[in-house]
Amino acid sequence: MDDEWICGRLGEDEPWVLGAVNPPVFENSLFTFGSAEELGEAIRNEDERYVYWRGTNPTVDLLQRKLAALERGERAKCFGSGMGAIAATISSRVSAGDHVLVLGAVYGPTTQFLRYLEKFGVTHTHADDLDGCARAVGPGTRLLYFESPSYMRYEVFDIPAVTSWAAGHGLVTVMDNTWSTPIFQKPLTMGVDLVVHSLSKYAGGHSDLVGGVVVGPARLIRPLALTEYQLYGAAMSPHDAAKVIKGLRTLPVRMAAHQERGLAAAAFLAGHPAVRRVNHPGLPSHPGHALARRQMAGFSSLFSVELATESRAEVAAFLDALRHFRIGVSWGGFESLVNAPALSVEESVRATMGVPVGLVRLSVGLEAADTLIKDLGLALEGAVAWRE
Ligand SMILES: Cc1ncc(COP(=O)(O)O)c(C=O)c1O
Repeated sequence: MDDEWICGRLGEDEPWVLGAVNPPVFENSLFTFGSAEELGEAIRNEDERYVYWRGTNPTVDLLQRKLAALERGERAKCFGSGMGAIAATISSRVSAGDHVLVLGAVYGPTTQFLRYLEKFGVTHTHADDLDGCARAVGPGTRLLYFESPSYMRYEVFDIPAVTSWAAGHGLVTVMDNTWSTPIFQKPLTMGVDLVVHSLSKYAGGHSDLVGGVVVGPARLIRPLALTEYQLYGAAMSPHDAAKVIKGLRTLPVRMAAHQERGLAAAAFLAGHPAVRRVNHPGLPSHPGHALARRQMAGFSSLFSVELATESRAEVAAFLDALRHFRIGVSWGGFESLVNAPALSVEESVRATMGVPVGLVRLSVGLEAADTLIKDLGLALEGAVAWRE
């Protein structure tokens, strides 16, 4: 099964599809049964049976089958947001007194959620590398959580090395693979236990939905589907599932186009005098490039640049001068976006993130590369003047 077939056809030859080129959207809050006994049996197996929207839905289920196959996992569970998937996944694996290791920089609200868990007696430690993990691991450590490439700085971790170290310490590994999508990286094949995604980014691709997923072995997915999924209520709607199914149809070709445009923009910026550094693992100058090429099949188009300035006003002037990159949060859509932590988060938060004032994050969309490069060049003309 190749990824293109999974994206376009898997699960779509079911009898109920009637040869329709797109599957139906099941708009049912509930399903009915022939007898009370049948209903009871379905409720006991609600991770697989259609009972109530907050548990399962055939349209969401079709998406789950596709995402499980794309990640080469046994089972997938979709959620109403990426954070819904992350919160349910972490809490399914920890109890009061347990400890979580976080390797490298991760999405801000993921750290916030780990801080929130402290009131339930679950602690966590951030480590920069495996040596740091070795210093922080203890008898209560249950989970190792990471992203590769990492958040904002796009540092690449050696996934097989991380997972074999974690397995040696009896830890479950959870990895956020949103940056690469399953088209460019398949962490379960490198020993990761559970992969989480925000489907709101490249998977959907059109900035018209919010969704998430966790993929892994049935023995880990089933309990969280029956417990955290049901109780937190972060259910995915069949309408959003249908939009992600549509997004998947073009995901492989969109990722190829994002890769090409992202690398062109990154290479241009790397050669510009107003730019101190470009954090894009697809550039040969990136310290993790060789490792990335070993474990990834390609590169998405989200990266950051460090402008040669210490002034928030100058960063703002750069953003305001852009015409084709729009200013906004999120990423992975058809539209090019730009954001800067120095302008969008509290100064104290930026400092704890360890990112410089001049750091700007770019999500390169599907516009023509020449247009985007011209836009960046014109906006940077002011930036060169700052240095004079
Ligand atoms: C790397 C990463 N993971 C997870 C999330 C959370 O996803 P969602 O916004 O769908 O809850 C985001 C959102 O920006 C993200 O950037």
